[in-house]
Amino acid sequence: MADRYAVIGNPISHSKSPWIHAQFACATGQDMDYGRLEAPPGGFARAVDEFRAQGGRGANVTLPFKQDAFRYATKRTERAQAAEAVNTLRFDGAEVLGDNTDGVGLLRDLTVNAGRAVEGRRVLLMGAGGAAQGVVAPLLEAKPARLVIANRTAGKARALARRFPGAVGGGYEDVADAEFDILINATSAGLAGEAPPLATNAFARGAIAYEMVYGRDTPFLAMARDCKAETRDGMGMLVEQAAESFLVWRGLRPPTGPVLAALRGG
Ligand code: ATR
Repeated sequence: MADRYAVIGNPISHSKSPWIHAQFACATGQDMDYGRLEAPPGGFARAVDEFRAQGGRGANVTLPFKQDAFRYATKRTERAQAAEAVNTLRFDGAEVLGDNTDGVGLLRDLTVNAGRAVEGRRVLLMGAGGAAQGVVAPLLEAKPARLVIANRTAGKARALARRFPGAVGGGYEDVADAEFDILINATSAGLAGEAPPLATNAFARGAIAYEMVYGRDTPFLAMARDCKAETRDGMGMLVEQAAESFLVWRGLRPPTGPVLAALRGG
């Protein structure tokens, strides 16, 4: 029987993860069955318990359950601890490994797929919620010249930056005169049809603007294009975090290029 995996969230019907993992399984010859599991609010642990009882070997976890997954894990990787959130669970008998592959997914997409070095570059991370928190540690590991976290609620960015030596946090007014080579939008502003209140001079010549939201043109992407920056949405991050989860479960890294190309094409 195929090994069972699932993505757990609410809502979950829109998730591309089953398709992505089916492509990975096919490309690597792994016998896997990957489905969708919608857990009710407050019902995460029970849904996972049931899935494990039915033979589930691992799961991806998405909104709004990444903190529940963090608590559910009996053992957490360093990157999950830094993110204080888990998007990947691996069930090893009674033990549950909790990992977070979002940050490495962003870094791989940025550095490998988009061919952008982070080392020595000025990086602006916008937002201080879960999406931002998951990528601070891997960004710092890539040795940027500076990493500034800007958030509408400045205090949240300062608090987040205090947890990571090397990062600086503040409000958008604090970066009004600064320019950056890599600008990452980890806010949910795009989902509401808004852009973070960023000054247009923030885009250095040759900058790349990275929008974590995928599959739609957001005001931040439009602003970046107006400022002559290269733009990239979060589709590659989605595929790369999935590949890293696949590696955690199966011990091998699937090829991501064809999957990303197919998603972009369709
Ligand atoms: P997620 O887990 O996706 O990060 P979240 O924890 O709700 O979601 O955080 C949303 C982030 O987007 C926050 O940083 C939020 O800023 P505040 O902390 O000030 O609320 C940011 N955000 C949402 N809408 C925004 C907007 N219109 N402009 C700027 N920032 C916005």
